[in-house]
Amino acid sequence: MAYSEKVIDHYENPRNVGGFGKEDAGVGTGMVGAPACGDVMRLQIKVNEQGIIEDAKFKTYGCGSAIASSSLVTEWVKGKTLDEAMTIKNSQIAEELELPPVKIHCSVLAEDAIKAAIEDYRKKSGASSSETH
Ligand code: FES
Ligand code: FES
Repeated sequence: MAYSEKVIDHYENPRNVGGFGKEDAGVGTGMVGAPACGDVMRLQIKVNEQGIIEDAKFKTYGCGSAIASSSLVTEWVKGKTLDEAMTIKNSQIAEELELPPVKIHCSVLAEDAIKAAIEDYRKKSGASSSETH
């Protein structure tokens, strides 16, 4: 099975690798694992006072598709509101990266990670923003 060019590009030049201090103001951390293969992804967002994700970083211990999915998602969420970022679907990631069926769970990991990061941020910031809807 061949990786698409987009996967290879993100794998070789991953965007936004790294992390923020977990307890820093405005930071949400999502840590998820894929039961199918044991891979682990940590994705963090930094949210500004307007509720916009101004930065995102990730660390992924996993396959090329998982790394590419997390790299892509960190690019997509920048500049988005939390609600907008919540609407990102793994199917959009899989489509953009042209993932084959056996690699779909790698994109699910990225969707789960961004959602977990947003939930973590909302919990830490008093949940006032999420309990209204
Ligand atoms: Fe986990 Fe892909 S099976 S690295
Ligand atoms: Fe398991 Fe990619 S995350 S094979």
